[in-house]
Amino acid sequence: MNVSIVHFPVIDSTNIYTTGLLSQSGIPEWTVIMADSQTGGKGQRGKTWDSEYGKNLLCSVVVFPLFLQMHEQFMVSAAVSLAVCKTLSSFQIEAQIKWPNDIMVKGKKIAGLLIENQLSDRSIDSSVIGIGLNINQVDFCNSYAWPATSMKASLGAVSDISRDEVLLDILKNLHTFLEKCKVGHIALCTAYNELLLFKGEQVVFTHAGNKTEGKLKGVTLLGEIVIQTEQGDHKFVNGEVSLLNTFAV
Ligand code: BTN
Repeated sequence: MNVSIVHFPVIDSTNIYTTGLLSQSGIPEWTVIMADSQTGGKGQRGKTWDSEYGKNLLCSVVVFPLFLQMHEQFMVSAAVSLAVCKTLSSFQIEAQIKWPNDIMVKGKKIAGLLIENQLSDRSIDSSVIGIGLNINQVDFCNSYAWPATSMKASLGAVSDISRDEVLLDILKNLHTFLEKCKVGHIALCTAYNELLLFKGEQVVFTHAGNKTEGKLKGVTLLGEIVIQTEQGDHKFVNGEVSLLNTFAV
C-alpha cells in the first residue's frame, strides 16, 4: 500500500477536491487529501461539517474496491467505521458506531464519515472516503442533536495528539479491513454489529415524518438497519430513518 498524502491549509472540502481530481486526471489508490480547515466541509444528507482550524483530522482517502459490487457499498462503510474505532481503541478510547456512519464515544459524536462511491455496472470503481475525526478540539458549539467530543476531550488529555499518527493508523486499519472484506463479508458485518450503538435496546426514531419506537436488532449485510416494532421487524436503508438522541431526554 503506497500512501501519498497532500496537505492543504485551507480547502473548500477535501471530498469535493478529491472527487474532482479523480474525475479529471485520475489519481492512485491511497491518495489522501487532508486539510487544516474547510470552507465548505460536507456532512451527510446535505449538512455542513465544521471544525476548528488545525485541530482535527479532515481528510479524504481514495480506494478502488473493485472487488465489491454496487449492492455491497455497506462494506466500505463498515470497513471505515471499524478502522476508525480500532484506531480510537489503540488510544484507549472505546468507541461505538451509530448507524450508519457516525462514530460515538459515550453518546457523543467524535467522528463523521462521508463515503462517496463511483459505481459502474459491475463494481464500485472508486470510493472517496471522507473522515472528519475530532482530535484536539475541546470547545464545541453543542447545539447539535448529538453533542460532539474529541479524542483529547474524551481522554481529558493535556497535550495535543498527533493528527499524522492518527491518520496513519486509520489507513493501516482500513487497509486491513478492506483486505478482510475480500475474503468474506460476514465477519466484517459481525464486527460492525458488535460495536453498534443501541444494539438490542429500545430506540426512538423518525421515519417518513413519524416518530416511532422499537428495538434495534442489528444491521444486515446490505447495511439495512432492522428495527422490531409492534407490527414486526422492519428494515430501513440509509436515509429512511433517523435515530433520536434518547440520552438527551
Ligand atoms: C457527517 O457526519 O455528517 C459526515 C461528516 C464528514 C466530514 C468529513 S471532513 C473531511 C471530508 N470532507 C468533507 O467535506 N466532508 C468529510
